Amino acid sequence: MDYTPNRHDFDRYMTPNYAPQEVIPVRGKGSRLWDQQGHEYIDFAGGIAVNALGHCHPVLVEALKVQGETLWHLSNVFTNEPALKLAKALVERTFADKVFLCSSGGEANEAALKLARRWAVEHHGEHKDKIISFRQSFHGRTFFTVSVGGQPKYSQGFGPIPGGIVHATYNDLESVMQLVGDDTCAIMVEPMQGEGGIVPATPDFLKGLRQLCDDHNALLIFDEVQTGVGRSGELYAYKNYGVTPDILTTAKSLGGGFPVAAMLTTDMIAPSLAIGTHGSTYGGNALASAVALAAIEFIDTPQVLDGVKKRHALFREHLEAINAKHGVFKEIRGMGLLMGAQMAPEYEGRAKDILALAIEEGLMALIAGPNVLRLAPSLVIPEEDIAEGMARLERAIEKLLVKA
Ligand SMILES: Cc1ncc(COP(=O)(O)O)c(C=O)c1O
Repeated sequence: MDYTPNRHDFDRYMTPNYAPQEVIPVRGKGSRLWDQQGHEYIDFAGGIAVNALGHCHPVLVEALKVQGETLWHLSNVFTNEPALKLAKALVERTFADKVFLCSSGGEANEAALKLARRWAVEHHGEHKDKIISFRQSFHGRTFFTVSVGGQPKYSQGFGPIPGGIVHATYNDLESVMQLVGDDTCAIMVEPMQGEGGIVPATPDFLKGLRQLCDDHNALLIFDEVQTGVGRSGELYAYKNYGVTPDILTTAKSLGGGFPVAAMLTTDMIAPSLAIGTHGSTYGGNALASAVALAAIEFIDTPQVLDGVKKRHALFREHLEAINAKHGVFKEIRGMGLLMGAQMAPEYEGRAKDILALAIEEGLMALIAGPNVLRLAPSLVIPEEDIAEGMARLERAIEKLLVKA
């Protein structure tokens, strides 16, 4: 029998680890979405920096349809043409020589960390196991990645945490120098902390990390799950900094909404993932790879990447104009189309309230922690959607001020 699910079904049938909004979107086109009742929303959230080309972009729909009628899945007992084309496209566009394909950011990071550990053991010995990461960082939800991540709330309560992991302070090279040594296997860092509050790295910090890794035979891992695939205005954020990692992870925008991820590395390191050392049933899935190839080929063009920079300026202008009138933000920051507006001290902890009010006004946005309103829209969002979305955001903020 035909049946229309509602929000109560979430509580009834799904594990309680999320608290989704009351509205249920059912359809999307470009940067607009519609819910079950037909209400329209402008999408500044982009599925948390995933829908790089908005909803149902014709290029991605076409790639999915064509591949969907050709070949879906084989497993890694066989390789397949879309996976090989995607790997080649990633290698040709980055520092990397080799690619491991998988399905999520956490899985790509898990692969990166396991590879770094194996490489260190093979080349330097068992003692070289220390992984340095940063407070407030986020690297995924597998047990290794929540442990490396710098937000203890995600790793606590699950029993003993894997060893050999230490945390330094982001953008503070001195704090890394105090921890780094010949036992350091890798430093893992986001070029801009996403979940940690939209905090870009300083160029000196990333250059310093590169130098420390070189000095101590350690690997530099850039987690570009959130910053990658055009979001920063370059295909990968490391290109903005001129600092090249040894391993890079990419997911989210890579599939534009189809689950796919990759870990990129060099010929010097890749052999440590020898046959049988790691794997993933869905890694290199033909449907996922075909969509990701279409996404990356579309995004890696001057037209799209310059458009991201242009839109960044427009978003910043709008946010600053709202702030000039209402004084709700302390700072507006970010790169490309991953932007954060930190709440002013009077509105500390209120970023979440804006999200709920924005929904009432027909706008989807995000937060990054309790104090930062985060925007991660489509990289090709039309200017009129930006203007209309900002008008809705301003109305939501006006409501917040009335309630404050
Ligand atoms: C920087 C970073 N790394 C890793 C992840 C985890 O990705 P996934 O949820 O696809 O496993 C995220 C997700 O927000 C992220 O922002």
